[in-house]
Amino acid sequence: MNPATADNRFRLIEGEQLQSESFAEAVEAGLARDPKRLDCRFFYDETGSLLFEQICELPEYYLTRSEREILARRSGEIARRFPRDTVLVELGSGSSVKTDLLISVWIAEHGSLRYEPIDISEEILRESSLQLLERHRRLTVHAIAGHFEDGLRRIEAAESGAKLVLWLGSTIGNLTRPRAVAFLRKVRESLSERDGLLVGIDLRKDVAILESAYNDAAGVTADFNLNLLDRINAELGGHFNRAKFRHEAKFNPETGSIQMFLVSEEAQEVTIDETGSTFSFGAGERIHTENSHKYSIDEIDELLREARFELAERWFDSNGLFSLNLARPLP
Ligand code: AVJ
Repeated sequence: MNPATADNRFRLIEGEQLQSESFAEAVEAGLARDPKRLDCRFFYDETGSLLFEQICELPEYYLTRSEREILARRSGEIARRFPRDTVLVELGSGSSVKTDLLISVWIAEHGSLRYEPIDISEEILRESSLQLLERHRRLTVHAIAGHFEDGLRRIEAAESGAKLVLWLGSTIGNLTRPRAVAFLRKVRESLSERDGLLVGIDLRKDVAILESAYNDAAGVTADFNLNLLDRINAELGGHFNRAKFRHEAKFNPETGSIQMFLVSEEAQEVTIDETGSTFSFGAGERIHTENSHKYSIDEIDELLREARFELAERWFDSNGLFSLNLARPLP
């Protein structure tokens, strides 16, 4: 058998967390709350994942472009800071397009690489892994379909080599600040001192720039948000009429986050067949669907310190909109 064929260099493992979670229960509980809310991780069904890819290319959505610019410029520097047998673990890898920049440079620098992407969408994992494997003959991919907790378990279980954990795209922004600290502390505990963490974090900035990134002119973000209602209809027999809801995204200065909502345009009742429950919405009542926290430099320093990491290097894009932070575990 030819060891260079993509099949031999690919393994997909299913995380336990993925099977244990119930969309129906989460929707039921979230809509029974006051104020109503739905967890943003449910955005990413197949349609939602594709819409997110489109968001990343929008002119208003500077996050992806900025991080890509930093990675394009700094990947060599990053790769050279780690020994050649380092395993690259990525939390929430998505399409791996940005990571491909680092992977290419890494292989050029070190000769080969083992990459362990973790994502909730098995479809996307499979597709992106196979694309990477076709492009890079000296790459091995061990993909994990699951939640970050599954990923952390994998990091801990890992073999002897050093690890570099990637958490890109400001996904950390979905967590409240205390939860971000708690999660990074868990990451810290699964690492040893020669390992590293590379985390992309969106910065606080002018509210107009922030709000337009989540209110794009083409309406893709609105579609992404409203797709949650379609998903409830398709998977749970919901009777949401998406024409009776509208997308809203606003910066909340108190939480320091962009908050997304689905706003009921009128008073209405919506039944979900699978759970057999009916929910009432007042005119203008909102379902909170996402938080995207933005950080100042001081807040990033504090976050890392509290999670027991030490900053090794911080890079910005040329417009100073986004940060990529390389951190090392503190003893
Ligand atoms: C993937 C969580 C980083 O918060 O900017 C994009 C998701 N939501 N547009 C973000 C998102 C609306 C994105 N993250």
